[in-house]
Amino acid sequence: MDASLSTIILAAGRGSRMKSDLPKVLHQILGIPMIELVTEKVSQVGSDDLTLVLGHGADQVQRALGETSIRSAIQDPQRGTADAVLAALLQQPPVHPDVLVVNGDLPDLDLELLTRFVADHRSGGAAFSVASARVADPQGMGRIVRNDRGDFVAIVEQQDADEDVGRIDEVNLGLYMLQVDTLLPLLEEMVSQDLSVADPAAESYLTRVVEVMVQKSLSVAAIPVAADRQFLQVNDRRGLARVSRVFQDRLQEQLLDAGVTIVDPLTTWIELGVEIGSDTVIHPQTVIRRGVQVGRHCEIGPFAHLRGGTVIEDDVKVGDFVEINRSHLECGVRAKHLAYLGDARVGSGANIGAGAVIANYDGTHKSSTVIGERAFIGSGSVIVAPGEIGSDAVVGAGAVVPPGKIVEPGTVVIGVPARKLNQNKTRS
Ligand code: UD1
Ligand code: MG
Repeated sequence: MDASLSTIILAAGRGSRMKSDLPKVLHQILGIPMIELVTEKVSQVGSDDLTLVLGHGADQVQRALGETSIRSAIQDPQRGTADAVLAALLQQPPVHPDVLVVNGDLPDLDLELLTRFVADHRSGGAAFSVASARVADPQGMGRIVRNDRGDFVAIVEQQDADEDVGRIDEVNLGLYMLQVDTLLPLLEEMVSQDLSVADPAAESYLTRVVEVMVQKSLSVAAIPVAADRQFLQVNDRRGLARVSRVFQDRLQEQLLDAGVTIVDPLTTWIELGVEIGSDTVIHPQTVIRRGVQVGRHCEIGPFAHLRGGTVIEDDVKVGDFVEINRSHLECGVRAKHLAYLGDARVGSGANIGAGAVIANYDGTHKSSTVIGERAFIGSGSVIVAPGEIGSDAVVGAGAVVPPGKIVEPGTVVIGVPARKLNQNKTRS
């Protein structure tokens, strides 16, 4: 971490290419809003002074971030990336003279690249540096224009590029370093000039500051930061899907390397923060949501859906068309066919029969259910929460256990509503 660095994240834009009511930075990559991914990476390089520029959907973004030490600046209306940086510099004056500026739609930043960029900027000594890269498909990105001597003289946006410029494959990645003392007066002048035109939709681009600085003989640099690497930004839903796929492949590779079998990676979707123990097998068409924990030697799927807040201990089998929501399954539990378990704690060795439902929602409230060790929950039964099924108890096929009913350990209940069967335990 570089504590002598201030950071500005630009996240005020309308994101109109997303065609969404949701601000672009709240769209999720594998269960995590993009803005969380960006702030997390960026705080690793300059965590002690971070300002987020918000505008479109600012309230929504602030709510999503919750309690945070990140400061925010409001850009309203949103009139371009230079205007956004200026809003941050004026509303939240940076603590440090060096500022890293990051576009908020770059969820795939890596710490090493950021660190190297900051170091190269400092050793180069320019007042404004842009991170650049040669990419296979430069379409849609600002092109780095150099003169015959190779000096960086401008960034030309896609819509302003002629055929020659369009062929340039060195692009602006949307990461910048600036020295506040030099850039603040420059941006004030440039933005007021750009926005003084009659067109209310006019924008002031941060990228234009390069040619302004070159004219004034101020030092600018385009620093190539990486070769052989794909750079992913999210401007539209295609970008979101592409970035999500890259993250998914990477996450699955980590799990595979850690000893998890994923039978068909292409039809399996696992969100970020999921932990899975070795020798667990994930069958096709399985979805595992953010933060779920799965132990060792489990079998999950095909067609299983493990939702947030779920913990699955070792040797558990969750079969086809089983949905598990905010539940804890202890070792050796079986729920092999067509079941729904919501807000349940299921004791070790318990068996959840085909089509059983643990109904956690009464239309207003959600309640919990506890199922004891080795309990046997019959096919097609419904346990309406709050529920308590004792250890070694049996719920007969098709029974409905009403809310609040306690099924004593070792007893058998059957029927609708479920009542105690006057005989020793039988397994159906
Ligand atoms: C921008 C760059 C382009 C670069 C690309 C890399 C400009 C003008 N162009 O284009 O050279 O190759 O990023 O990803 O900067 N934003 C605001 N306020 C605004 C407008 C935008 O905060 O008024 C924010 C957006 O929320 C976004 C970021 O700035 O996070 C970049 O804006 P975006 O519209 O995505 O710019 P690009 O077209 O991708
Ligand atoms: Mg963008």
